Amino acid sequence: MSTILLLGGTGKTARRIAPRLRAAGATVRTAARNGADVRFDWHDPATYDAALAGADVVYFVPPALDLSYGPLALDFIDHAEAAGVRHITLLSARGVEFAPPEHPHRATELELGRRTAFTHSILRPGWFMQDFDEYVFAPSIVADGTVVAPVGDGTEAFIHVEDIADVAAATLLDPDAHVGAEYALAGPEALSFAQVAEKIAAATGREIRFVDPPREEWIATLQSGGVPSDYAQLLGMLADNIRAHATAATTPDVERVTGRPPRSFDDYAAQPSVVAAWTAPSAVSAAS
Ligand SMILES: NC(=O)c1ccc[n+]([C@@H]2O[C@H](COP(=O)([O-])OP(=O)(O)OC[C@H]3O[C@@H](n4cnc5c(N)ncnc54)[C@H](OP(=O)(O)O)[C@@H]3O)[C@@H](O)[C@H]2O)c1
Repeated sequence: MSTILLLGGTGKTARRIAPRLRAAGATVRTAARNGADVRFDWHDPATYDAALAGADVVYFVPPALDLSYGPLALDFIDHAEAAGVRHITLLSARGVEFAPPEHPHRATELELGRRTAFTHSILRPGWFMQDFDEYVFAPSIVADGTVVAPVGDGTEAFIHVEDIADVAAATLLDPDAHVGAEYALAGPEALSFAQVAEKIAAATGREIRFVDPPREEWIATLQSGGVPSDYAQLLGMLADNIRAHATAATTPDVERVTGRPPRSFDDYAAQPSVVAAWTAPSAVSAAS
């Protein structure tokens, strides 16, 4: 059985992948700056080799909120090759195949394609459902019952992170079956943010409404919340894509890999842990 290294090991995807791999009998090593099995810092290459030691397969999560990681990714890939890694699964994003070659996600995809010492698979998910309870859209839902995004009536085929985890685990446990695969990962339906607000309201019993702010105001709010300027601008462009319905189409890839349809937003919104996140004490007092 393989030893599998999970970068971003405490993040939304890897922490759901790890138990799947362990249940299948693989040896798993999670890596992050804090709270993982091994300390790994993209900005400290001295941490790369200890993370990679003995690893056959790597789940590659680029550093969060960082658009300058391109050279670090190439350096890490060199270290992985020297360590004898035989497969890398990259967490990229939907539409990156159309990004310019200097975009760090695209540069990493292209570099993996150039290497012959190991095989690779690429996962390209759209926006995560979990962005509404664990990430960018969660704070305002909890604080004042608003889903805030400059997307108008744009729609997105949100993907459940458990489906990303299922597909990622398949590629990590049986790399030979997924050599060179590029999976566009989407949920089963396109939803507008107004529809998302309605679903969260139905799940929680709270009054939830969609707010479509001016784009620059939204970006400034992200920045004041700690998102770096260049990443906030990128999120603004991704919001433009939603407004244009660019990632509204469903895809067959979750079902192709797992043998069953992707989870729906209704499945997600019915999860007790998700409802609890939306009805935290601060949410209830903000709503009352
Ligand atoms: N959210 C979405 O809707 C969406 C959609 C498509 C694609 N994506 C892609 O998903 C990726 C994020 O994956 P995720 O959601 O699984 O992770 P995540 O929840 O954003 O967590 C980030 C993980 O990376 C680690 N990390 C952050 N900075 C690091 C650094 N400098 N060195 C080492 N580790 C670092 C974090 O732990 P520490 O902070 O402790 O190091 C954490 O484990 C991004 O590249 C994004 O482009 C996201």
